[in-house]
Amino acid sequence: MTKVLVIYAHPAHQRSRANRMMLDSIKGISDVTVHDLYQTYPDFFIDVEAEQALLLEHDLIVIQHPVYWYNMPALLREWQDLVLEYGFAYGRDQQKLKGKGLWIVMTAGAPEHTYATEGVNERPLSDYFLQYERMANVCALKAFPNFEIYHSRHMTDDVLERAVATYRQNLLSYLEECRHG
Ligand SMILES: Cc1cc2nc3c(=O)[nH]c(=O)nc-3n(C[C@H](O)[C@H](O)[C@H](O)COP(=O)(O)O)c2cc1C
Repeated sequence: MTKVLVIYAHPAHQRSRANRMMLDSIKGISDVTVHDLYQTYPDFFIDVEAEQALLLEHDLIVIQHPVYWYNMPALLREWQDLVLEYGFAYGRDQQKLKGKGLWIVMTAGAPEHTYATEGVNERPLSDYFLQYERMANVCALKAFPNFEIYHSRHMTDDVLERAVATYRQNLLSYLEECRHG
């Protein structure tokens, strides 16, 4: 059975608009587990063994978070450092997650046009997250194209609803793709 794990990192989920809608849209899909890091580890003490076991049980790993300071939220960085350790996620013949799918999902507050050479953010959002490409490569994960929602706090409900529907649809397609290898 192919299973999806959504590793979710939002320091202020109670105030979320976009991520909350996105997670609501996938609630109830069988074989999808949402794992909320800030809810699980409010003290930042990550249970590395439990996290690794969870990863091993799933076939498609979704990493979902708002963009904070051109980066991922701090607890996700901590998770990455501790959980994706040498001998588990990488190392010669030790890529235990090899072949699993990886899908990066991010929400950004700024509009898309600002993430360009001429825009105030000076470069595409993907440039700030090149490290995810390295992560997929080093861990031998099969990366699906990143999914970004821009202007996430201020776009109209209609536009956000369409973006959320695409998110849900993509998740289902990638799940199918993982199922059929
Ligand atoms: C501390 C902090 C840093 C942020 N840094 C960025 C940033 O670098 N780029 C950006 O586009 N938005 C930034 N934002 C905006 C968030 O990405 C945005 O509020 C979030 O994606 C909205 O999703 P939500 O409705 O699920 O909370 C930041 C917000 C906070 C609180």
